[in-house]
Amino acid sequence: SRIAVLASGRGSNLQAVLDAIAAGQLHAQVVGVFSDKPGSAALQRVPEPLRWSAVPARYPSRADYDAALTDAVAASAPDWVLCAGYMRILSDGFVQRFRGRVLNIHPSLLPKHRGLHTHARALEDGDAEHGASVHFVIPELDAGAVIAQAAVPVQAGDTAETLGARVLSVEHPLLLATLRLAVTGRITEQGATAALDGHAL
Ligand code: GRF
Repeated sequence: SRIAVLASGRGSNLQAVLDAIAAGQLHAQVVGVFSDKPGSAALQRVPEPLRWSAVPARYPSRADYDAALTDAVAASAPDWVLCAGYMRILSDGFVQRFRGRVLNIHPSLLPKHRGLHTHARALEDGDAEHGASVHFVIPELDAGAVIAQAAVPVQAGDTAETLGARVLSVEHPLLLATLRLAVTGRITEQGATAALDGHAL
């Protein structure tokens, strides 16, 4: 399977995917990394020909940027589009173009804590557990069908940083397990949760 990755930041989830592919643990290829931040570490994790970045503010309108991103991703001919720390909300046009093939990893146990600052909000709410979710992307933010989740305990004395690090350590195996299901054709947007029955993560 061909996977296009959208990323704005550090790219540790992208790296986990690249490492799993290199180790023969995920039968896929990363066909492009697309970023709104030309300086992001994520871009540096793939060879130059696979990098695409464009600064949204340099486009005349949001629609123009979204069209450029959509065309660039489409040109990589992906089977799956993975958002891994992509910090912009995707336009309806983008989602419609790739609907049913766009996955996002989000650092909370959805439907809790959609949006930003999830670790701080889990602490503020006194949650006993927190975690990460992989879900299908729909136009509404962090609201698409959840495919799989991994939970961690919230511990006494946790800060957003310590809790976030604990969550990140389960994000990578969660993401790889989900991508294995995706690339072997075992998940669809309609049957996201049902498809997991019998497949231990
Ligand atoms: C992860 O916590 C992911 O869940 C969230 O953004 C972060 C990206 O981290 N969407 P990285 O860039 O993959 O290291």
